[in-house]
Amino acid sequence: MKAVVLLGPPGSGKGTLAERLADKLDLVHLSTGDMLRDEVARGTDLGREAKKYMDGGELVPDQLILDMVGGRLTGPRGVLLDGFPRTRAQAEGLEEYTAVDAGLFLELSRDEVVRRLSSRRVCKECGANYNLLTKPPAEDGRCDRCGGELYQRPDDTVEVIARRYDVYLKDSAPLVEYYEKKGILVRVDGSRSPDDVYTQALSALGNA
Ligand code: AP5
Repeated sequence: MKAVVLLGPPGSGKGTLAERLADKLDLVHLSTGDMLRDEVARGTDLGREAKKYMDGGELVPDQLILDMVGGRLTGPRGVLLDGFPRTRAQAEGLEEYTAVDAGLFLELSRDEVVRRLSSRRVCKECGANYNLLTKPPAEDGRCDRCGGELYQRPDDTVEVIARRYDVYLKDSAPLVEYYEKKGILVRVDGSRSPDDVYTQALSALGNA
């Protein structure tokens, strides 16, 4: 495969699914959210600019995203795109670099998005993802994998989650129809357990 696009509201489980799916399908996992957070942590010009949008739950401008990710789309291995594209302009920009084989849509209700994101915790050291409700760490506040400190992302407050969801509905949800019209959209019920979501995704992509 050249490229699989993961679509879905914030917190629908894109990152959680992408880790396992990329491994199984031998794709490079590219998360624009992770790339941006890395730029912010390193204090680069892009990171400083992006932070202004990310903290309030707004989208970073399309051209900044395309410039950041473009060079990563033309390697010899296929890519699993997590959180990109998020607008019609990004979807069209992506096609200038590579063909898209499938758009995998993780469906999840607004209430479940708020519930999951407000209880998410992330390791400061290795980026491992936890959830106080569904996947708590063995030791309070510490990563099972590396012992690093767990923190709450600044955009995981109830106010910013609500804004991210509204932005998703306005700018990113129309991409579901965009890929449906191309005949390459597959749907997965994101409300199921992580194992079920993974199995459904493999089956929908014809790799079960
Ligand atoms: P980004 O980091 O991409 O945020 P997002 O799309 O809002 O997605 P999340 O990372 O919050 O959630 P997810 O769907 O990956 O779910 P996860 O697996 O973590 O982007 C952040 C910001 O960067 C954006 O707001 C924007 O400003 C900017 N940005 C990024 N890309 C951009 C772009 N292309 N254009 C413009 N701006 C861009 O799971 C969430 C929680 O649920 C975890 O705690 C997890 O353990 C739990 N969980 C996962 N799956 C399940 C399950 N099946 N059952 C129960 N719990 C589950």
